[in-house]
Amino acid sequence: MKAFETVWRAKAGKIEEILTKSLPQAVQKPYLLHESMRYSTLGGGKRLRALLVMGACKAVAGDVGRTYGLAAALEMIHAYSLVHDDLPCMDDDDLRRGKPANHKVYGEAVAVLAGDALLTEAFAELAKMPEKYGVPPPIALRVIAEVASSCGSRGMVGGQVVDILSQGERPDLAVLEYIHAHKTGALISAALRGGAIVGEGKEEQIKAITAYARNFGLAFQITDDILDEMGDPDLLGKKVGSDRRLEKQTYPRLFGLERSKKMAKTYVNQCLQALEGFSEDAWLLRELALFLLRRDY
Ligand code: IPE
Ligand code: IPE
Ligand code: MG
Ligand code: MG
Ligand code: MG
Repeated sequence: MKAFETVWRAKAGKIEEILTKSLPQAVQKPYLLHESMRYSTLGGGKRLRALLVMGACKAVAGDVGRTYGLAAALEMIHAYSLVHDDLPCMDDDDLRRGKPANHKVYGEAVAVLAGDALLTEAFAELAKMPEKYGVPPPIALRVIAEVASSCGSRGMVGGQVVDILSQGERPDLAVLEYIHAHKTGALISAALRGGAIVGEGKEEQIKAITAYARNFGLAFQITDDILDEMGDPDLLGKKVGSDRRLEKQTYPRLFGLERSKKMAKTYVNQCLQALEGFSEDAWLLRELALFLLRRDY
């Protein structure tokens, strides 16, 4: 096995452990809500956003142990976004991470509320960064503000609403870029910038990591679009063909599969270029960018 996969698994395991402890226990009232929150956050997912947080902190030679709260919080926010994304009023998907979608198990009302609660609990976790992980309070505040704006109406939620409202519309590159940069790119950016800020990177390093993040977000969502066209549902743990069914704005729809693959490669190269001034400490970020070109899940 390659070292990259081993490192990935160890770091993902660490975050899973923190999430298991931080999320409200299912024996605590209201039982069903807590069970539903745990169902969608634990035991699945690549934990990519958590890895990006840690990778960025390491790239600026920061103390990775300080980033665990941020990494766990972003995985909660990501899980909430997936629960809501699968709802019948959104993408209407019934399989996620190889299991029935949250609303299929707990019903739509509980799924909506589990998402709401996960988002809120994530901010509680962020507010505990100083106490639990020794993050200096001014740094914690800066990160909390970044995470909030990256998931609000000018970030992820903004991207999701345009994604939904432009279904069935004529393909349009400006709209498509807006959707991808916001629905997916914003949280990825918060992960990377947040990791670098917690790691107390220099402004110049944070700037380079921001450039990496912009390109990574686009490359990641382009490959997600490609996998929705030609991926293996068993490996992905979700059904394919949703984007086509809903006439979403996607790269394959606008450019076709081959051009989309080339574009993903260009963005990955730009990720690597953004890291040129970094030492071996940016190894994980480099590996994560290269992973996008071979991912099948
Ligand atoms: C899926 O994200 C949703 C998108 C933003 C495209 P991931 O592919 O990272 O999902 P998990 O966490 O591995 O399930
Ligand atoms: C989801 O994008 C983005 C967010 C959840 C914010 P998609 O709708 O493409 O994600 P999948 O393909 O269902 O995982
Ligand atoms: Mg969607
Ligand atoms: Mg979806
Ligand atoms: Mg998709």
